[in-house]
Amino acid sequence: MLKRVWYKIRPFVPKWFLPGIRWSYRNYMRFYCRSVGLFDRWHLRKTGFSTLPPAPLRYRVHGSPKIEGFLVVGKTCRDDIESTLEQLGKRLVDFSRVLDFGCGCGRTMMWVKEHARHVRFFGTDTDAEAVAWCQACLPFAEFRVNDPLSKLVYPDDQFDLIYGVSVFTQLDEAYQFYWLEELRRVVKPGGVVLLTVLGEHCWQTLGPADQEHLRETGFLFRVTNRMKGIFPEWYQTAYHSQDYVLREFSVYFKVLAYIPRGLSDFQDMVVLQKDGLVST
Ligand SMILES: C[S@@+](CC[C@H](N)C(=O)[O-])C[C@H]1O[C@@H](n2cnc3c(N)ncnc32)[C@H](O)[C@@H]1O
Repeated sequence: MLKRVWYKIRPFVPKWFLPGIRWSYRNYMRFYCRSVGLFDRWHLRKTGFSTLPPAPLRYRVHGSPKIEGFLVVGKTCRDDIESTLEQLGKRLVDFSRVLDFGCGCGRTMMWVKEHARHVRFFGTDTDAEAVAWCQACLPFAEFRVNDPLSKLVYPDDQFDLIYGVSVFTQLDEAYQFYWLEELRRVVKPGGVVLLTVLGEHCWQTLGPADQEHLRETGFLFRVTNRMKGIFPEWYQTAYHSQDYVLREFSVYFKVLAYIPRGLSDFQDMVVLQKDGLVST
């Protein structure tokens, strides 16, 4: 709501006013996260989880520190991954080694624990603090920190399923191509990769010029200073068109499906497969 109002009034706000607004917003969010965090223990009892990521970590992946939304979205992500796999005639438990690429503080991973008897789960992220929480609190999976732009620690052909929820929504084009190549390296031949993107449904908050740019080129990397000091510089917002994804992602993978609003009824789900036979 606040975001929508901001996007509407922003063109009329004098430029010299912006740094002050950004500074106030960032500090307000820090204060807000701390205050929400004070009530975590009380909320925790209602959730059935013995522990949850602290409020600032929740805020970083979710845009809000509130526990209810964090849990609902995490569960929805797990459900949407499962129903996408169903369309391929598979279930999560049919895979033996699954990587959550850009796992953050485990918003999705928290919900797959019940499958851990059959599946080995792995998670990797650039956010060392989020990974440390996962390592301490989600012992059924193995977590690693990776650099923003260098090889993952895993050998070639390791995973039969990789999913990346809301990760390619943050990367510029050079990073995007780097990570498509790297994910292709670590997934097994015949293995499946699920990635989400901000497709046409998510363009509504953009101005006419940005939407026009997207219609023409299919890709937009939007840099703002709103989160300066909270997220790294390379971590911004990327939007995609379906045509662009089909064209560019197919250089690395076979595109099995493109499902508009396939994640949380908001982001688009891209279903990819590495060439070759599945080796189980
Ligand atoms: C919006 S959050 C989503 C986190 C998680 N997938 C979820 O759904 O809760 C995006 C995550 O991607 C991570 N990320 C961004 N670029 C990455 C990269 N190159 N390698 C690994 N993680 C990355 C960020 O640190 C962040 O935790």
